Amino acid sequence: MLLKELEKFPPEITSFMRIASKIAGKLGVKIYLVGGIVRDLIIDREIFDYDIVVEGDGIEFTRLIADYLEVDFIKHKTFGTATVYYKNYKIDVATCRKEYYSCWGALPKVTPSSLRDDLYRRDFTINAMAIGLNKDDYGELLDFYNGYNDLKNGLIRVLHDRSFLDDPTRIFRAIRFEKRFGFRIESRTLRLLKQALEEEAIKFVDEHRIRDEIILIFKEDYPPKYIRRIDELMGFSFIDKDLKFDNQDYILFMRIHRAIKFFYQKSLKYHKLQEWLIYLLGITIKLSKEKVEKFCSSFGFRRGEKKILTEIFVQKRIIHSLKREVKIRKIISVLKPMSFEAIVFFYAYFNNKSLNKNILYFLNNLENIKINVRGSDLKALNFKPHKLYGKILEELVYVKLEKNLVTKEEELEEAKKVFKRLIRSYSK
Ligand code: CTP
Repeated sequence: MLLKELEKFPPEITSFMRIASKIAGKLGVKIYLVGGIVRDLIIDREIFDYDIVVEGDGIEFTRLIADYLEVDFIKHKTFGTATVYYKNYKIDVATCRKEYYSCWGALPKVTPSSLRDDLYRRDFTINAMAIGLNKDDYGELLDFYNGYNDLKNGLIRVLHDRSFLDDPTRIFRAIRFEKRFGFRIESRTLRLLKQALEEEAIKFVDEHRIRDEIILIFKEDYPPKYIRRIDELMGFSFIDKDLKFDNQDYILFMRIHRAIKFFYQKSLKYHKLQEWLIYLLGITIKLSKEKVEKFCSSFGFRRGEKKILTEIFVQKRIIHSLKREVKIRKIISVLKPMSFEAIVFFYAYFNNKSLNKNILYFLNNLENIKINVRGSDLKALNFKPHKLYGKILEELVYVKLEKNLVTKEEELEEAKKVFKRLIRSYSK
């Protein structure tokens, strides 16, 4: 079958593929597009990653193409893989390979091989198709494992019985593709998935890889439905053995989803939230701080992520004070030190009218407030000592809001009063 879908490529990618095709011909190797890109082309989904495999020396092929285009490429430590950067695109190139798993969950041993073997080592039939890129088969779909039909019928199907045992992260991937595309895990595949769970295959996987899968799931469009499916199929004991969810928890995940959307529309237009962390907070808040600390270390979360996940416990106590009408400076002092992820989380978690009013006020008015007066203005007024400047400017933010100051002159007048007040309090 010849795929017309290649015509949907941006012109830069089309020209890259044509050049790749010529170079492959000269080098005498076969090259193919493989994996998610083939699936997404067929179902007309936006393409983000371009993956090429080479039957032959992938690195040599990449070197030639990079030389020809005069662009950079990076050779990876992983067997026979490299990345080319062309215009604004990133194209991954790999040597076709066969994999051997020495034990469950471990990374496989690999040897160079044919396209057929390379596709056979993959997770699901829908991800195991290729498109020819050589002159004689340009645009031709190669579908040894019936992926096209499964894709059209909405089925997630493994290629062989050991698939989930070879790589138990595929359990998460099966759930991800099932929910993302509204597909069904085919019955034999589901039985194999459940068997792998019974045999506790997940325990054999490096926790960092599980972390990556959790993050990918929480980056999907509507994570609550994935969370429910994970809970239904396997529970969350891979995070903590006592972790159980009830309806209240699902309501929280749905509220988190709504809160994120709401904040992007209303106030956080210029901020990019790490949305996945907010969902994860919805899970880890059910544990103790000590358990979350341990979880963060063993799953290898970054320092900033760990900070957000662990500080939430103290912040949860502090933020109670905003559940009533309070002064502006109170709102700032409580919310300013918090991450936006924590703030959005609390908005969903407490769902408390006064708290949410204060949070919205903070995000709409206070977070981005700028004062016109600078340290140099205070110096020109001969204010001393200099170490007071930070405090004066901070106070000025509150005064600006309380008194609705607009011009720099108004701010300077107030700065003088603030300065006097501070000097008085210091000399007492
Ligand atoms: N793959 C696999 N087993 C895994 C991970 C990946 O067989 N545990 C294979 C699949 O063929 C997959 C390809 O490697 O299509 C690329 O992996 P990745 O980029 O993670 O997956 P995509 O299918 O592109 O998924 P997404 O759309 O989420 O990027």
